[in-house]
Amino acid sequence: MRILVLDNYEEISKKAALMIASQVMLKPNSVLGLATGDTPLGMYKELITLYNKKEVNFNEVRTFNLDEYYGIDRENPQSYYNYMINNLFNSINVNRKNINVPDGMAMDVEAVCRCYENKIKEVGGIDMQVLGIGGNGHIGFNEPDVNFEAQTHLVNLNAQTIEANSRFFKSIKDVPIKAISMGIKTIMNSKKIILLANGIGKAEAIERAIKGKISPEIPASILQLHNDVTIILDKQAASLL
Ligand code: GLP
Repeated sequence: MRILVLDNYEEISKKAALMIASQVMLKPNSVLGLATGDTPLGMYKELITLYNKKEVNFNEVRTFNLDEYYGIDRENPQSYYNYMINNLFNSINVNRKNINVPDGMAMDVEAVCRCYENKIKEVGGIDMQVLGIGGNGHIGFNEPDVNFEAQTHLVNLNAQTIEANSRFFKSIKDVPIKAISMGIKTIMNSKKIILLANGIGKAEAIERAIKGKISPEIPASILQLHNDVTIILDKQAASLL
């Protein structure tokens, strides 16, 4: 596990964007695992800047998002699909047919999850997976008490996550209580992982994930067992290490 502690959010965003761009330069048809939330927004902006400067070309890239709320459709402004379109895909030349986000309106959830896993396998697995981290140590939507063996599946969001994500909704009652998420096994099968965290609110989760015991209580702690993880932190997020 490599740990990079940088001065501020801008620096971590730039560093992460450069890592993704390098991955795509080395392997133009890379399979990228992408995350949502506030944390990667700066990184996506930097990637768009690199694309506009013609430093990186996404036309062969395939993407798989980590998760999607269950019960809201793609066009919903709160969907993670919509987030990706607005914050990245609309501004780069990724081919829409190469974008994959779990279908939050799936009727047959199990079939959709199986299909997602199969598709990831068919393209040769995820080359580089981007992660944020929840204040409770979740990655994707793999909440505490996680099953480390799970693949893409339907999850129940816990109260802390619903509360944290209510900032994006009109009221806490509008926050979906379930989501479809890649499982820990899906994430651990990625060839490379980069995890970004900034701000004091993430310091405890980062400390427990990196220095604590590997435990389902802190889903991100499993990353200690992956052989190619880079954790990119600002000073606040690293303050308890
Ligand atoms: C969300 C997402 C995660 C994300 C996390 C942190 O619930 N499912 O993928 O990493 O919460 O979000 P933020 O970056 O906004 O703090």
